[in-house]
Amino acid sequence: MRKLFTAFIAMVAVALTFSCYQPAPDSAAAIKADLAYCDSQLHRTLAELADSSGHIDYTMSPRNILAGESHWNLRKVDKAEWCGGFFPGILWYDYEATGDTAILRQARNFTEPLAFLATTPAYDHDLGFLVITSFLNGYRLTGDESYRQVLLACADTLATLFNPRAGTILSWPRHVGDYGGHNTIMDNMINLELLFWASKNGGNDSLRQIAMSHADTTMAYHFHDGAIGYHVAVYDSIDGHFLRGCTHQGLADSSMWARGQSWAIYGYTMCYRYTREQRYLDFAQKVADAYLERLPEDGVPFWDFDDPRIATSGLNDLTPSESVAPRDASAACVVTSALLDLADYVAPDKAAAYRHVAYRTLQTLRNHEWRGAERCPAFLLHSTGHHPAYSEVNASISYADYYYIEALIRARRRL
Ligand code: GLY
Repeated sequence: MRKLFTAFIAMVAVALTFSCYQPAPDSAAAIKADLAYCDSQLHRTLAELADSSGHIDYTMSPRNILAGESHWNLRKVDKAEWCGGFFPGILWYDYEATGDTAILRQARNFTEPLAFLATTPAYDHDLGFLVITSFLNGYRLTGDESYRQVLLACADTLATLFNPRAGTILSWPRHVGDYGGHNTIMDNMINLELLFWASKNGGNDSLRQIAMSHADTTMAYHFHDGAIGYHVAVYDSIDGHFLRGCTHQGLADSSMWARGQSWAIYGYTMCYRYTREQRYLDFAQKVADAYLERLPEDGVPFWDFDDPRIATSGLNDLTPSESVAPRDASAACVVTSALLDLADYVAPDKAAAYRHVAYRTLQTLRNHEWRGAERCPAFLLHSTGHHPAYSEVNASISYADYYYIEALIRARRRL
């Protein structure tokens, strides 16, 4: 009886919190200040990238700042460097926020070196990440016809990785042997946006059909225990039947790797935005709810929800150790951006709950402990890239900053 009563009180408390939640009265000012912070950090980055004569090599893109470092590590733009679009994307969003034409010029300059992708055979699914962030944002903000042409060509290239027997895109052609079959990773859900967008902007309708086949097949096989995603799904290369789910960047095959789940939440929300198919909206809520059920109160997940160190990790201890699990600001930013979108489509009580988490997360990331601030020119600290390889752990990473500024822009549009 006592248990039942406690559960009832907890339910009432959750319902009250979510149903009464409105963005705090200072949210508009807070979001404006957050965007001003991003703009000033971005100017620091641009100053760092320039040599003594003010020249910038636009083929080198900021990728990460590792724990304890204070400058960006750059990577050469390449078909195999999946993060090459995030920095131009950040510049596009900053231009959207500020209207600063100097930033617009830099957004164009950092976007151009990726144009070779339009005439390059598919390397892997990350082609979507590379051009959605750069050319798609650029096209949205400028209407530049040459950007549309790059996007359409890249959509056709991405479609060459589709295997109709499996029903999904082959994410990593180079790893077919390692996985013993056609592999599809959860991250690939994000890249469907390129296909949906192209089919509505001059491309063939088969691109939309491929994207929907991928989303439907992923929904059918790529999740376990209801709505927890595997990182990798392996299908038979010949007849396409599902072989197994496993991990690459998570703790274990069936653990909930935070960023993998964030790609799923963002991906199915985006699928609904483009198609208005109810099944995608229902599924986006399922995958979001599985994540939110176990999310720490401050809105930022540990890198993997099943890391046993979570039991001994305090939310204020941001230095990973044998007893403290690393957090992942990047997953938090992907989810915050997705929840602001998802909240526009769902019932009012659900919308309030999703907005509550989104604004709570932005509030957390506003704290000095989470910001690069004077320590380094990144917007945020404390992301986890690839924990099993112990790479980019407790780092600033370009995609965390990209989804952070995207979330801020989405929040600003809705206030
Ligand atoms: N797409 C790779 C990652 O999420 O780390």
